[in-house]
Amino acid sequence: MATDPNRNARYGLTLRRLRQDRHIRELTREVRVSPTQLIQPHFVVEGLRGREEVPGLPGVFRETPDSLLKQVDQDLEESTDKLLIFGVPGEKRDTDIRFDFTAWQIEALRRRFGADLWIAVDVCLCSFTTHGHCGVLNREQDHVINDASVEQLARAALEYAQAGANCVAPSDMMDGRIAAIRQALDGGGCERTLLMSYSAKFNSRFYGPFREAANSAPRAALKDRASYQIDPARADDAYLSSQRDADEGADILMVKPGLPYLDILKDLSQRIPRPWAVYEVSGEYGALEALAAQQLMDGPNAHVECWTAFVRAGASMILTYGARYARRWLAGA
Ligand code: PBG
Repeated sequence: MATDPNRNARYGLTLRRLRQDRHIRELTREVRVSPTQLIQPHFVVEGLRGREEVPGLPGVFRETPDSLLKQVDQDLEESTDKLLIFGVPGEKRDTDIRFDFTAWQIEALRRRFGADLWIAVDVCLCSFTTHGHCGVLNREQDHVINDASVEQLARAALEYAQAGANCVAPSDMMDGRIAAIRQALDGGGCERTLLMSYSAKFNSRFYGPFREAANSAPRAALKDRASYQIDPARADDAYLSSQRDADEGADILMVKPGLPYLDILKDLSQRIPRPWAVYEVSGEYGALEALAAQQLMDGPNAHVECWTAFVRAGASMILTYGARYARRWLAGA
């Protein structure tokens, strides 16, 4: 039989030789996902009778203060030792907003687990206000007032830092909040507290399940977050926002959501040499879970595939609702 040695050698086996078995595939990977680079989000809600599973996010709960401690204990046993906390107060108010419920949870976690646990906390107003916006609204409720919002956010960040958070993470998208928060932290004796900015946060439909969990959907004359979050078609805005936040003193920058904005993550992580986080948000996570629940997809490996894409695109850390399963899922990948 006539063979074409050239064709065979040049195009045939050359690439497939390195794909042929598990061993060589493991040896040739350019990036690896480690459970140590994942951060587990938690919702803790004031006034719940018992914990409730979040619709669309199997295995994720709206925790009570007690169930939060139990869940974190269990997670730590499996070495999931980094978390991001979302506090949801029982009473919503638009003036004299109180951050003490969230601060108490941070204090309780620190008291119980000490330095074994790395605690980040989301800093925003959307779960705290009656209107569900990330800042303070004007009287007509059709505009978020920037500087009044920044003032509240800086107050929240300092309170959380003093309660023992390792890292404060503002997700509100107001202008100037990074500088204001850094100044408040330094002035309040929290020079070592890290500042992770949700710097490239897009106005996304993928936050759906989260807004149920955090009770934070916008409900006012101002109907959505388009006037403060980044438009999905504006990569330039994501760059400007991230560079500005780096200049204002953010230690860590973030792209959010993850999968629909991989191009942004790759581009910005190359242009701005800072540690980059990516948030695999509730809608992305839940979409995979929904397909997996119908047995239409291998869920664990689909999650690992997405995490691999994030690392390949330049993320050094990933916020994901699946962090607590990562050891198991990565062992099977
Ligand atoms: C609030 C906030 C949101 C998320 C984190 N912090 C949603 C929003 O902007 O409405 C989304 C997280 C997720 O969907 O998992 N500022």
